[in-house]
Amino acid sequence: MKLSVFCGVSVDGFLARPNNALDFLRTGEQEPHGFEEFYGSVDVVVIGRKTFEVALTFGKWFYGKKPVTVLSSRPLDFSSVKGGVVEQMSGKPEEIVTQLKARGFKHAYIDGGITIQRFLAAGLIDRLVITRVPVLIGEGIPLFGPVPRDIGLRHVATRSYRGGLVQSEYEVGALRTRTRKQRTLASRTKRPTGGKRQSN
Ligand SMILES: NC(=O)c1ccc[n+]([C@@H]2O[C@H](COP(=O)([O-])OP(=O)(O)OC[C@H]3O[C@@H](n4cnc5c(N)ncnc54)[C@H](OP(=O)(O)O)[C@@H]3O)[C@@H](O)[C@H]2O)c1
Repeated sequence: MKLSVFCGVSVDGFLARPNNALDFLRTGEQEPHGFEEFYGSVDVVVIGRKTFEVALTFGKWFYGKKPVTVLSSRPLDFSSVKGGVVEQMSGKPEEIVTQLKARGFKHAYIDGGITIQRFLAAGLIDRLVITRVPVLIGEGIPLFGPVPRDIGLRHVATRSYRGGLVQSEYEVGALRTRTRKQRTLASRTKRPTGGKRQSN
């Protein structure tokens, strides 16, 4: 099963303002940047509870008929979701993926900052598509956070759009990743390579 992230951020890396406002995503000229095609390619959406709560404020259910799994450790009320297909799960990202896989899903769209960070830390995300909107907002809800080890990314493509959007696509885990301990050990045992030793 493939897991992808497709999100929009300010150039300083925020998914939303501290109060969850998303107004800044409309900065610059809006133009199609592949979301419809991406959304058509996924068969399940996995979102964090906070993203779900924001989606409820949009009026119309944002995710259409696509099955949506909302992650939360607390009971959720889905009664205001009209016409959508929603369920709740909780647990380790590995357990969630195992359950979705067993049900035959092939491509999951993972969304929400904390949620993306947890799936990344678990080494489960295959692809990141990040669209930077030409604005700095200074503070907000970050896309990324601390990582347990370096996470190697292979750059697939960067596309720029007339209105100022810049979209970068990466394959995750394509490069060897190292834990903090491995990094410390490597820096302690570092030896000069190549060239001749110079004396003063
Ligand atoms: N710009 C964009 O493209 C974009 C995309 C997505 C979201 N957003 C915005 O980002 C904000 C939300 O992001 P966020 O980082 O605050 O939170 P989030 O990832 O949407 O939600 C975090 C919550 O999800 C639950 N959760 C995550 N993984 C879990 C797991 N494995 N098991 C059980 N529960 C789990 C926890 O809920 P409990 O505390 O209930 O346990 C956690 O507190 C919103 O403002 C949203 O609109 C923007």
